Amino acid sequence: MQKPFDAAITRFFEEEAPDEVRRAIEDGSKKDILTPDYPYDRWMDKDDYEAALEALQIELVKCQTWIKETGAKVAVVFEGRDAAGKGGTIKRIRENLNPRIARIVALSKPSDREGAQWYFQRYVQHLPTAGELTLFDRSWYNRAVVEHVFGFCTPEQREVFFGQVQDFERMQVEAGTILVKLWLNVGRAEQLRRFLARENDPLKHWKLSSIDVKGLSRWDAYTAAIGETFDRSHSAVAPWTIVRSDDKRRARVNAIRAVLSRIPYDGRDASVLDVDAKVAGGPELWLN
Ligand code: ADP
Ligand code: AMP
Ligand code: MLT
Repeated sequence: MQKPFDAAITRFFEEEAPDEVRRAIEDGSKKDILTPDYPYDRWMDKDDYEAALEALQIELVKCQTWIKETGAKVAVVFEGRDAAGKGGTIKRIRENLNPRIARIVALSKPSDREGAQWYFQRYVQHLPTAGELTLFDRSWYNRAVVEHVFGFCTPEQREVFFGQVQDFERMQVEAGTILVKLWLNVGRAEQLRRFLARENDPLKHWKLSSIDVKGLSRWDAYTAAIGETFDRSHSAVAPWTIVRSDDKRRARVNAIRAVLSRIPYDGRDASVLDVDAKVAGGPELWLN
């Protein structure tokens, strides 16, 4: 079977990746965690992960009941570099929930019509109404990062975005929405390892796009765009939570805890909700 993009990921790994990135992936002694300053050496134990996840999924069901009964509106934004684990985390949140209440919004690139509208307009129609938990797999932050890195918007359009985003989010909160913004942060070698795995897995081919391939050599441009995004959109009304996602297991359970801790649902079991502060917290946790 032909590999997607003519094995472009493998070629990047072999020919272009910075030495320390290639070495980290090749070094068999560092099997689990490749990111140098990640606070753990090993992935979370699988049984511990499964037990923690199950307990959290029970909390999510309680949370869903509360959202439905009180007519709360909740929006959760999942952002992060390609392969950071947005889709996998959303999948675990949604697993045992009612798809009518917990909805995923994963918009494709804007159509010509959308491109000519006010930038936020196409997102507005997907914001939650009473009794909904809306999970954004990527969001309006495309303009701050990927559109900027790839030149899909002009610098002026990006400035307008930053001039409006805090108001846009404040308006949602003033309308009664609980807005949670999660940034999943993955290290460079770990991202490349995941891309390589996708290239070689017929079930994961589809996750690779030409943006992923071209983005490999734009790591630093992403880094600059992400740092600026935190500086200009982390606010008291709509703060960012960074989730270090080099270990998918710790990332998923701590992302769910971060979401649940923002929602005042009834019957909570506080003993399973403590966020690991080494894995999830404010922008100070963002180490590119
Ligand atoms: P994903 O990581 O969501 O599977 P991609 O890596 O292919 O998708 O693209 C990243 C993001 O960039 C997506 O949200 C996509 O809609 C957006 N994008 C791709 N091409 C364009 C474009 N020409 N203009 C604006 N946004 C784009
Ligand atoms: P998967 O798609 O789950 O088979 O894993 C693909 C890649 O995810 C692996 O090659 C690892 O680089 C990465 N990964 C990160 N954390 C974990 C984890 N806790 N368990 C398994 N894979 C992980
Ligand atoms: C992720 O893993 O972060 C997303 O689901 C897909 C991607 O960005 O490649």
